[in-house]
Amino acid sequence: MQEYVRDLHRSGKIIGLVPTMGFLHDGHLSLVDIMRSRCDVLVMSIYVNPTQFGENEDLSRYPRDLKRDCSLAYDHGVDTIFHPDSGDLYPENYKTYVTVEDLSSKLCGASRPGHFRGVTTIVSKLFNIIRPDRAIFGQKDAQQALILQRMVRDLHFPVEILVGPITREDDGLAMSSRNTYLSGSERTQATALHRGLTRAKKMVESGETDSNIIIEEIRSVLQEQPDLRVDYAAVVNLENLEPLSRIEGPVLIAIAAFVGTTRLIDNIIIHADETNIIKIQDS
Ligand code: PAJ
Repeated sequence: MQEYVRDLHRSGKIIGLVPTMGFLHDGHLSLVDIMRSRCDVLVMSIYVNPTQFGENEDLSRYPRDLKRDCSLAYDHGVDTIFHPDSGDLYPENYKTYVTVEDLSSKLCGASRPGHFRGVTTIVSKLFNIIRPDRAIFGQKDAQQALILQRMVRDLHFPVEILVGPITREDDGLAMSSRNTYLSGSERTQATALHRGLTRAKKMVESGETDSNIIIEEIRSVLQEQPDLRVDYAAVVNLENLEPLSRIEGPVLIAIAAFVGTTRLIDNIIIHADETNIIKIQDS
C-alpha cells in the first residue's frame, strides 16, 4: 500500500479515503458516493480494529463479509480496498497510541473508555500508510468525526476531513452494521431513537430552547420501549461537547441506548445563531 500510494502521489493523483470496519450498508456507500467525485483514486479500508473495542464488547462477533463488501465497494466506484492483517498493524509489543484529550472521555467515551483512543490510533495509522488528501466520516458517529477533525488539526495531518449525512432505513433507524444483532421486536423498538430526535427537532422548531425539557421528552419517548435502556440523551455544544442548558450556537443532540444488549447511537445537529434562526441538519 505504501509503495502504491507513493507512485500515485508522484503522478499528482488526489487520494480519497473511506475508512470502515466492513459489513457495508448504504451508509458506508453514501460516503463512497460523496468521495468518488472528490478524488482521483478512491481507497476504502476495511478493518475491524481491535483497539477500539472494550474487553466485554463485540469484537469477536462483529459481523464480517469481505467478499460481499469488495463487490459492493467496487460496484460503487472504489478503486482499491485496503484490508490489513492485525498482525501487521499491531505486532507483538505494540506500544504507541494517539489520544485526543477531553473530547474522548465525553458522551460515548464515558461508557466506552479507551474506545476513541483506539479510533484515533487506527485512523492515524491509516493516514500514515495511505496518505490520503481527503478522508470522509459519517455524522452517524458525530463525536468520532469531531475528535478526528481535532486530531488532524492538532497533529498537522495534511488531510481534509469531510463529514457525510446519516443514511437511514425507511422507518428512520440510522443504518449500522450492529443493527444485524437486533431481534424482530428489538428492531421495532430501535426506531424510538429516531422518534425521540424527531420529537426534539419539532420542539426546537416550535421555539423550545430549554435543553432539560428536550432531554426529558426524548427520554420519555425512549422509555416507552420495554427492552430499551438509555445510556445517555444529551444536548451539547458541537465544538467541545460540553452540555448546554439552552439551545444556542452549533448544537448536537445525541442519544445512545441499549436495545436488548445492542448499543445504538443517533443524533441531530442544530445551528442556532444569535438571531435565533435555527437550521436543523437531520439527515
Ligand atoms: P464503521 O462503523 O464501519 O463506519 C465507517 C464509517 O461509516 C464511519 O465514518 C461512520 O460514521 C460511517 N457510517 C456508519 N453508519 C452510517 C450511516 N448510517 N450513515 C452515514 N455514515 C455512516 O466508524 C468506524 O467504522 C470505525 O470507527 C473507523 C472510523 C473505521 C475506525 O476503525
